[in-house]
Amino acid sequence: MREQIEQIRQEAVAALSQAADLSALDAIRVGVLGKKGSLTAALRGMKDVSPEERPLIGQLVNEAKDAVEQAVELNKARIVRRQREREAATERVDVSLPGRKIARGSLHPLTETLDEISAIFEKMGFVWEDGPEVETDWHNFGALNFPPDHPARDEQDTLFLENGLLLRTHTSPVQVRVMQRHRPPVRMIAPGWTYRKDAIDATHYPMFSQVEGLLVDKNVTLGDLRGVLKFFVREFYGPQTEIRLRPSFFPFTEPSAELDISCFACRGTGSRDGKVCPVCKGTGWKELLGAGMVDPAVFQAVGYDPEEVTGFAFGMGIERIAMFRYAVDDIRLFFDGDLRFLRQF
Ligand code: PHE
Repeated sequence: MREQIEQIRQEAVAALSQAADLSALDAIRVGVLGKKGSLTAALRGMKDVSPEERPLIGQLVNEAKDAVEQAVELNKARIVRRQREREAATERVDVSLPGRKIARGSLHPLTETLDEISAIFEKMGFVWEDGPEVETDWHNFGALNFPPDHPARDEQDTLFLENGLLLRTHTSPVQVRVMQRHRPPVRMIAPGWTYRKDAIDATHYPMFSQVEGLLVDKNVTLGDLRGVLKFFVREFYGPQTEIRLRPSFFPFTEPSAELDISCFACRGTGSRDGKVCPVCKGTGWKELLGAGMVDPAVFQAVGYDPEEVTGFAFGMGIERIAMFRYAVDDIRLFFDGDLRFLRQF
């Protein structure tokens, strides 16, 4: 029995010192110490050993076990060390290799345009308000003084949903919601998506975005509206930009106006390189947005006293502004998601 244990121990230690890799090492360990291993089998033979000899044999088995386990650890370290040396010798880090290029995303041109617009109005103390895209007829039309038979209420222009709801056709309903929530004064902008049943072409898309503006206080005048819009335009298009207000009509403002800016492409001259300016078609002006003084009927609808307060509102299409800004001639480019287009910004 003693010789047998001694032999197992010596053979195991010798074999371990020859093992070339970790799996060979483990196979040897299992072969000796595992459930069906040689040392485990020897232990089972203990029942044939006389009671006097048993303690001694037990001690030998334990020593053999310790020796084999130690040899396993030692040789594991040897194998790992060898592996590392081999790797260090054969694998090289080429420090002159150029770095891997990390693909950087960028903001969508519409997002950038909106960020710039809202930053300018925030400077003037306007706060950002949100409203739902699914609206009631009352918020989108009724409270804004649209008569019941107004053409905008037609199936042809508005996307109606079930239960009398609709997709808002402009951001003006946010004016209504904010005035219902807050007592005056109000100074807000409301950017967001708007929807119209338009056929898609170079300048129309059924989904587009607007920025609404509303300022209500005591003694607000058309001159204040002009001053705010002029400041905006000069910040956005440059200090040389001229503005003009042209009479117009919206049900919710009285008087109403369209704001034109001097064409930045021809600096208002109407011609470029001896030809008719393609941006303003020779007029020297570009129509930018709709605006006006809040109609007393709107104040009445939201519970404001038109004798107490006055105000102005304006609304602009973000796509239109971005198209001028970046000389983009087709609105569809903003929605196609073509990276060749988007990477230019
Ligand atoms: N809501 C108008 C539109 O969509 C724009 C507008 C807003 C005009 C506020 C006047 C005042 O055309």
